[in-house]
Amino acid sequence: MKTIIEPFKIKSVEPIRMTTRAERERILAQAGYNLFSVRAEDVLIDLLTDSGTSSMSSEQWAAMMRGDESYAGARSFFRFEEEVRRITGFKHVIPTHQGRAAEKILFNVLHRPDTVYLGNTHFDTTRANIEYLKDTAIDLPIAEGTIPAALHPFKGNADLDKLAAELKRRKGQVGAVVITVTNNSGGGQPVSMANIRDAFRLAHEHGALAVLDSCRFAENAYFIKLREPGYADKSVLEIAREMFSYADATTMSAKKDGLANIGGFLACHDDQIAAQARNLLILTEGFPTYGGLAGRDLEAIAQGLREVIEEDYLRYRLRSVAYFCEKLQTFQVPMILPPGGHAVFLDAGAFLPHIPKSEFPGQALANELFLEGGIRGVEIGSVMFGREDPATGKSEHPPMELVRLAIPRRVYTQSHVDFAAEVIVQVYEKRASIRGLKITYQAPFLRHFTARFAPCQAE
Ligand code: F0G
Repeated sequence: MKTIIEPFKIKSVEPIRMTTRAERERILAQAGYNLFSVRAEDVLIDLLTDSGTSSMSSEQWAAMMRGDESYAGARSFFRFEEEVRRITGFKHVIPTHQGRAAEKILFNVLHRPDTVYLGNTHFDTTRANIEYLKDTAIDLPIAEGTIPAALHPFKGNADLDKLAAELKRRKGQVGAVVITVTNNSGGGQPVSMANIRDAFRLAHEHGALAVLDSCRFAENAYFIKLREPGYADKSVLEIAREMFSYADATTMSAKKDGLANIGGFLACHDDQIAAQARNLLILTEGFPTYGGLAGRDLEAIAQGLREVIEEDYLRYRLRSVAYFCEKLQTFQVPMILPPGGHAVFLDAGAFLPHIPKSEFPGQALANELFLEGGIRGVEIGSVMFGREDPATGKSEHPPMELVRLAIPRRVYTQSHVDFAAEVIVQVYEKRASIRGLKITYQAPFLRHFTARFAPCQAE
């Protein structure tokens, strides 16, 4: 059969509600033109993130009932640890309440004055945790990775020549090479096994740690199976294990490929790093056998990790994203191609060429999708990554202005995707009338979460 179906049936449903355009105009204005400030119940199809938004399986709910809530040495921890070890092979498994908590701990342990981190593309929380310590994060994606329409089977790869040059130039200063799979900020694009292996070999040659940000490891592993010569006959588990085998440590948000609503972990081989990490963990997360999670959460993750590497699931997962992209391609809607693993990334720069970067075309497009059809996506562009130099007042902008429409795992059906595509096409048809925005309030870090905006006036 050619049709790839959702490999599950639905046992429990949650109603969603349509609003009128007039209601949505009022809601958006009240939210300061920032979709993060809109109530979820006012959203029809919520594609803000694939993080923590998965539907859990009946086996996961059953596992939650088995949660052992003992403070120390809970049975649920050992089940979690065993599953994480089975997939990653790491000696030390340290649970955290989510991915950024693992990042905060790891980058604190690695911190020395003026440490530099090199990677394919650091995710925003990774970068923020590094910069909060006054360290530096440098993104070195391959050239294709920053051109939305450029085709490449592993568009998430790091540029190894640039990586080698930076490692040489910054000798002794590089704390770690951080490879993020899939490359979320660069379009949910996969990283090849060869690239992971070579990037980490370079790290080791220069005395830097090799760190895998693995929140979408299963999607990445399945792309490797489909696209990289030599992996077609390997299981996703074997591929995942090989990916982790080149790393010294991993940070993982289990809210993505853990198929859980909360949780994460830090895992590594080094005893000293683990000991220091556990000390910090106790300070901010909790005792090392629960790390900010309930026993039932550890159970949900352990079971989620088993389910996420099933090939029927991964085939459906990647297909549903590709299907969404193909629908939009028919209407030449500009976006990142080829389709990534967890989201469709609209190229807002090409979608709204009349709006300059300083007026946030991504934010303008995300807002318009909400006004048109109650769809919520997220800007990944100058609001998220742009900054103003306090000395000169000049603005710096990232290479791409994107709107990410992330697909929650096992949540929406094909007709939801059809509806979302129809909304996007309608907005595309009237794109010339869309106006930019200016910021009226911003926080010093991660400004996109709380910024407020006002529409630019027509000239
Ligand atoms: N690394 C990557 C690549 C991520 O995508 C995220 C989260 C994190 C780390 C941090 O994990 O949220 O559990 O603290 N990404 C979410 C997203 C928020 O919408 O892409 P967390």
